[in-house]
Amino acid sequence: MDVHSHASASPARIEHLDLDLQVDMTERRLLGTASYRIRPHGADTIILDTDALEIAKVTVNGKEVPVLLGAPSILGRALHIPIDSNSNTIAVTYRTTEGARALQWLSPQQTADRTHPFLFTQGQAILTRTWMPVQDSPGIRITYDATVRVPKELMAVMSASNPQVRSADGVYTFQMEQPIPAYLIALAVGDIEFRPLGERCGVYAERSVVDKAAWEFADTERMLQAAEALYGPYRWGRYDVIVLPPSFPFGGMENPRLTFATPTIIAGDRSLTALIAHELAHSWSGNLVTNATWNDFWLNEGFTVYFENRISEALYGPDHAGMLQILGRQDLQGSLEHMHATGHAEDTHLRLHLDGRDPDDGMTDIAYEKGFAFLKLLESKVGRERFDAFLRGYFDRFAFQSMTTDKFLAYLDEELLKPTNTKVDIAAWVDGPGLPADAPVPVSDKFDQVDREIARWQGGTPAAKLATQGWNTFQWMHFLRHLPKDLTTAQLNDLDAAFKFTSSGNAEVLAAWLEQCIRNDHDAAYSALDRFLSTVGRRKFLVPLYKELIATEKGRVMARTIYASARSNYHAVAVRTLDEMLDWSATKPEATF
Ligand code: BES
Ligand code: ZN
Repeated sequence: MDVHSHASASPARIEHLDLDLQVDMTERRLLGTASYRIRPHGADTIILDTDALEIAKVTVNGKEVPVLLGAPSILGRALHIPIDSNSNTIAVTYRTTEGARALQWLSPQQTADRTHPFLFTQGQAILTRTWMPVQDSPGIRITYDATVRVPKELMAVMSASNPQVRSADGVYTFQMEQPIPAYLIALAVGDIEFRPLGERCGVYAERSVVDKAAWEFADTERMLQAAEALYGPYRWGRYDVIVLPPSFPFGGMENPRLTFATPTIIAGDRSLTALIAHELAHSWSGNLVTNATWNDFWLNEGFTVYFENRISEALYGPDHAGMLQILGRQDLQGSLEHMHATGHAEDTHLRLHLDGRDPDDGMTDIAYEKGFAFLKLLESKVGRERFDAFLRGYFDRFAFQSMTTDKFLAYLDEELLKPTNTKVDIAAWVDGPGLPADAPVPVSDKFDQVDREIARWQGGTPAAKLATQGWNTFQWMHFLRHLPKDLTTAQLNDLDAAFKFTSSGNAEVLAAWLEQCIRNDHDAAYSALDRFLSTVGRRKFLVPLYKELIATEKGRVMARTIYASARSNYHAVAVRTLDEMLDWSATKPEATF
């Protein structure tokens, strides 16, 4: 039972989707028909999830039936379709509305090339139902075909077999032959081009971005090979990446065959491509073996952080992987402190309790980094060889199935803990708060070096005299995160003159620097801050920057002013978080003045 989907209330299931869509870039609407092959399983009703859709017509085996929509809630509205044991196809003709939170429609000005509009979808966690009627539960899988009609100067791509060149008439057809959950159905439409990266990999992006992207992601094919060497064959055919405009609310999204990625990982030096390793790793953890409900989200993300780290280690060595682990642990410690301080200790359990809440609330460092720490502990207890064999067997055994926390724990006990006579306090890890004391502690002498230079700087050595030659992005991130809390304008100027943070083209470095600047009211960085917040829509960067801003009276005014004009550039999922943080409905200009 999935508390975030109406569909699981009846046993009838969709099996295959045939989607026929027209994309109206001017009216900002999708119009079309979703037809499903179904299995009635003895039920007299099949239930689909919908949210903010306008439904024109429903048919069963070609015959029209009444449109029966349930009451709206945070889950949207259930669509009840009467069926019997002979029903094998249902079809829903519909159009999307302004309430389609999965869709972000961008004007030409919001794209890199500034010439054509752009559209992308974001399904996870429960947003696919805002752009098609579907059984929107991660425990229900379907294959799909789609025909998508777009203006002929644009190209459409999906989480499916994809075109590499523009069609003459703007019509594109797609197939996803492996069964996937609805949250992985995805579409992007824009003036994009394709560049191959190797035999099985390539990248899509707007013209002014695509060559930079191809250079940045040159290691993708090697990542894929490393992943296969670890945990078995890649089962999806091709692996491509599309670089979206900067308002994409996430770093990346693991849509099968086609990862969606933020342009903020294009740093010009390949330093932020662990994100590609992460989304690629989801081709096993998440897309192949899928969390059965959003309470089991750590099975997707914790495993993926572990797998991502192993790919990074295979390609770039243990030092590199170790630094990533430490940065992740720092994030986790910060989140844990915050969650405990604000009375949300329950949310620090690996197994979540999201009933009645938006599953997006579960997207915290817990699933990612506490999940990672748990797997790292298991690895350290049984040894890497044994652990790798276990994981490989797990992905194979449960391929194309969904997984609950309990089912995983039973399998873990049977296949790994019992045979090796290993004791772990599972209850503390899975259903207890905080980070258990036996969590392995990542270490790196690369960061010790950074700590020493920070100490020298605090002792009076000017920034330009510090031994920072050859530092990589992770070392700079560690440096920026560990500066003393209070800094004078002279100190900030000293750092910026030596290291040029304000003009950094590396979004991680720039964001970490801007946080320090806000904390210390460093005016000199405010135009860069304004520019960053007005163009980048990646929630992971926005949240800490706005949070730091609203900590002071002056900053609060600035935050409101910037948000008032930037809000329309942000995706609905980022807007939801920021509206709440900034108490926006109460402080909207209309309401205030
Ligand atoms: N699947 C997630 C993104 C997501 C999670 C979207 C939950 C909606 C709801 C994706 O794989 C992810 O984890 N992205 C991270 C990057 C990663 C390197 C940690 C992100 O976007 O920051
Ligand atoms: Zn992920």
